[in-house]
Amino acid sequence: MSWVTSRARPDIVALEPYRHAAWEPGLARLHANELPWRTPGDDSQDGLNRYPEPQPRALIERLAALYRSPTETLLATRGSDEAIDLLTRAFCRAGEDAVVVCPPTFGMYAAAARIQGARVVGVPLLSERGFALDAHAVLRACGSDVKLVFLCSPNNPTGNLLDATAILELADALGGSALVVVDQAYIEFAAGAAAEALVPRMPNLAILRTLSKAHGLAGARLGTLIAEPDIIALLRKVIAPYAITQQTVELVLRVLGSPHLAQMRRRVGEILAERERLREAIARSPQTIRVLPSEANFFLVRRRDPALALGRAREAGLLVRDVRGLPGLADALRVTVGTPEQNERLLEAWQ
Ligand SMILES: Cc1ncc(COP(=O)(O)O)c(C=O)c1O
Repeated sequence: MSWVTSRARPDIVALEPYRHAAWEPGLARLHANELPWRTPGDDSQDGLNRYPEPQPRALIERLAALYRSPTETLLATRGSDEAIDLLTRAFCRAGEDAVVVCPPTFGMYAAAARIQGARVVGVPLLSERGFALDAHAVLRACGSDVKLVFLCSPNNPTGNLLDATAILELADALGGSALVVVDQAYIEFAAGAAAEALVPRMPNLAILRTLSKAHGLAGARLGTLIAEPDIIALLRKVIAPYAITQQTVELVLRVLGSPHLAQMRRRVGEILAERERLREAIARSPQTIRVLPSEANFFLVRRRDPALALGRAREAGLLVRDVRGLPGLADALRVTVGTPEQNERLLEAWQ
């Protein structure tokens, strides 16, 4: 028996999934209660009067090429947010199971757990070591009720990569007791992409990727979960049958070619150059305590005047993220790198 079958929610393992209308594009669809005509203004290729193909084959093949992973290890989701939610729902029994998160980190892991009624166990990143993963503490925190360990690399909001070897060792030590989920939403901005190749080696490791960040497609809502086929099969029982809209499918198939990838890399280069220019300029301000290094398209600034700095940015028509509520970040703001003009405006506002 696969470890997934013994650790996922037994009722989901046993669940007879909803049977969506058969996908047979060669035949007329008199089986799905759709309208046979397009609505005026619908300029999609295949028509929005039709439900989209569940887990569209062509899209999955394109994502498989992009992420260099076999198609059967992929699940397309409405952003990584949905993958986080699906994993939590499929693995955690309300009132019984738990997830581990490493604060300060992306808030959706804990939010999804609380919505599901799962306990949230916090194992802080080591602030004195550049917010490194405390893998030993995570291992100690993993009691038999812990089903998922969420790690974010590069981490939001601290911007640092977590050590890939420590992640692998952690997954190995946990074996089939918990799934280690590595969220790599910002990996395209990072210098070392070592964690990308982890999945095939570890059955209890899942990777989250998204088109929302470096690919510039946040509005399309397309994330990809990469994991062992039995995890994908489990989550396919839970995901809504038509999760990915036809517009998103067509857009991504149109856009995700080599010109896009070349442009994406150029833009990542521009963002990284602007990030370093901004970081250096902000570091020179007497109100700055510290600008943290970053492997993403954002960075943290510790300020003597965070409230004033927030206000000044807003007066200049700019939003920066107030992260002062997160553990260990009482004086910190998170700045996303914008266009050179926006970045210049921020520097002027913070002069
Ligand atoms: C670490 C991290 N993971 C996931 C997401 C959500 O990504 P998506 O747009 O794919 O749902 C975000 C968004 O800010 C994020 O910071």
